[in-house]
Amino acid sequence: MNVKNAIEKRRAFRSLEPVEITKELIKDLSECAQITASCFNNQPWQYIFVYEPKALEQMHEALSQGNEWAHKASMIVVVLGKQEDDCVIRDRIYYRFDIGMATSAMILRATELGLVAHPIAGYSPKKTREILNIPDNIDVITLVIIGKKSDKINPDLSEKQIEAEKKRPERKKIDEFVHFNKYGGKK
Ligand SMILES: Cc1cc2nc3c(=O)[nH]c(=O)nc-3n(C[C@H](O)[C@H](O)[C@H](O)COP(=O)(O)O)c2cc1C
Repeated sequence: MNVKNAIEKRRAFRSLEPVEITKELIKDLSECAQITASCFNNQPWQYIFVYEPKALEQMHEALSQGNEWAHKASMIVVVLGKQEDDCVIRDRIYYRFDIGMATSAMILRATELGLVAHPIAGYSPKKTREILNIPDNIDVITLVIIGKKSDKINPDLSEKQIEAEKKRPERKKIDEFVHFNKYGGKK
C-alpha cells in the first residue's frame, strides 16, 4: 500500500496534453467513489463524465477567465450532489464532506494512473447546468479537469500559474492548523 505516494504526487498542474479516455478508466474512477465512506452509507455523489469532443468544447463556455488552460482537458468530471441525499444532523450538513471524500479518492486514483486530476471552482454553475441538462435542485459542486501533464508550459498561463507548474504553492506551517489535546494546545 502506498497512499502517501499518490498524495505527494498529486498536483494541480495546468499544462495538459491529450490522454485517451476509455470506458475502463471511467469505471475505475467510479469504483473509487462507489466504495468511499459516507454518513449512514447515503452515497450522495453524482458524476457526469464529459469526454466527447463536442461536449467538451461546449463546456469551454462554462469556464471562468483564468481557466483557459482547461480547454486542453481530455475529460471533465462534473461533481454533483444535493443536501437531501445525505445526513443533516442539526446544523451539521454532510453531503459536501462525503462528496469531497469520494472525489478525493477519485483524484488520488487518477494520480496513481499517471493523470492530472485538477478540481476547479472557476466555472459558471448556471452555464454548466444549461449545457449538460442538470436539474436546478442539484448543486454543481466542482469540475475536475482530467488530462496528462505536458512538459511544455501552456502559453495561456499567468506568471503565478507558471510558477505553480514548477513548484508546489506554499502551504501553511503544520502548527498553524494542528492542535494538541485541546483547541490551541501546543505540543
Ligand atoms: C475547490 C478547489 C477549487 C479550485 N479552483 C481552481 C480554479 O478555478 N482554477 C485553477 O487554476 N485552480 C484551481 N484550484 C487548484 C488550486 O489552486 C491548487 O490546488 C492549489 O493552488 C495548490 O496547488 P497544488 O494542488 O498543486 O498543491 C482549485 C482547487 C480546489 C480544491
